[in-house]
Amino acid sequence: MTRRLDATESGIATAASILRAGGLVAFGTETVYGLGADASQPEAVARIFEAKNRPRFNPLISHFAHAQAAFAQVVPNPLALRLAQTFWPGPLTLILPRAPGCIISDLAADGLSSLAVRVPANEVARALLELVDRPIAAPSANRSGRISPVDAAHVLEELDGRIDAVLDSGPCTVGLESTVVDLTDPQNPCLLRPGGVTLEELQAICPQISLPQTTHDVAPHSPGRMISHYAPHLPVRLDALHVQADEALLAFGAPRATQAPLVWNLSTSGNLEEAAARLFTGLRTLDQEGQALGLSRIAVQPIPQYGLGRAIQDRLNRAAAPRPQNGTQGSIP
Ligand code: TXA
Ligand code: MG
Repeated sequence: MTRRLDATESGIATAASILRAGGLVAFGTETVYGLGADASQPEAVARIFEAKNRPRFNPLISHFAHAQAAFAQVVPNPLALRLAQTFWPGPLTLILPRAPGCIISDLAADGLSSLAVRVPANEVARALLELVDRPIAAPSANRSGRISPVDAAHVLEELDGRIDAVLDSGPCTVGLESTVVDLTDPQNPCLLRPGGVTLEELQAICPQISLPQTTHDVAPHSPGRMISHYAPHLPVRLDALHVQADEALLAFGAPRATQAPLVWNLSTSGNLEEAAARLFTGLRTLDQEGQALGLSRIAVQPIPQYGLGRAIQDRLNRAAAPRPQNGTQGSIP
């Protein structure tokens, strides 16, 4: 059985003691719910992969209460310090070389010499991290390849009975995973995954940042960027200007007269922050209710390609990518 813990002092204390004992606790961050384990205990990290059914070759992000704790595990450079100062706590993950004496297990880092670190903004998450006082490895708390959870009920839909507890801090405010920036070569910072911090915001600090390459180029470097990901059961059709009678509609912007039997509007006012926060719940809802209604696809209206629109489109592209036949995620070339 998976315990549901309230975000009270005693709930947070229980969550912290489960994590210190090597157990698995899902917890809310501002981006999505993470499935946490003590990153310094390889057996605990192994349980994450088991619970998620995740291929072993994905390195995980380690979470910390403060930048100082993060920079004890990796070697920062001046750009990393500036980005951390500007965006932490918040939805930004930095990839940096491991520090000498780093306690994060090789399994959490998938044996790489670099590490992904982040300080989340959610106050409950930070209180938990503070109390545990260890790096907490946490991928999104969904089964591998599926839609990331943005509230505690989604976590239980995915992982009930497979993890020790979920710490319920309510719905996630950002709703999209963190932006991942590779800073291992400080002369050549590189955006690996668009996310809650936008490209425009990064460019204000770091104009030389290189843009996401194609998923094919990035995949070997950042294995979590698998092509088919965030996959609902129903197929997804992108950039739909018209919707068909057998399609559920993921809409964006002013509602139009539509034949669609099922509609989820990401933001009727065209606000990209609202759209990001409503994306994963929308996909999950259209998928479940669409299947119940016997619909055959989810059609998605075009999303503007600036600000958070890029990260939203990235997730939609992967939700729409061809599914592998063998039940695993998209292949890494
Ligand atoms: O918002 C988030 O980032 C959420 C919350 C829970 O913090 N976590 C999350 O974790 O999305 P996950 O495991 O689903 O995604 C981690 C991403 C993957 O794309 C992975 O490949 C990349 O970070 N990554 C981790 N370590 C890396 C490394 N050393 N080098 C390159 N990419 C790395
Ligand atoms: Mg994920």
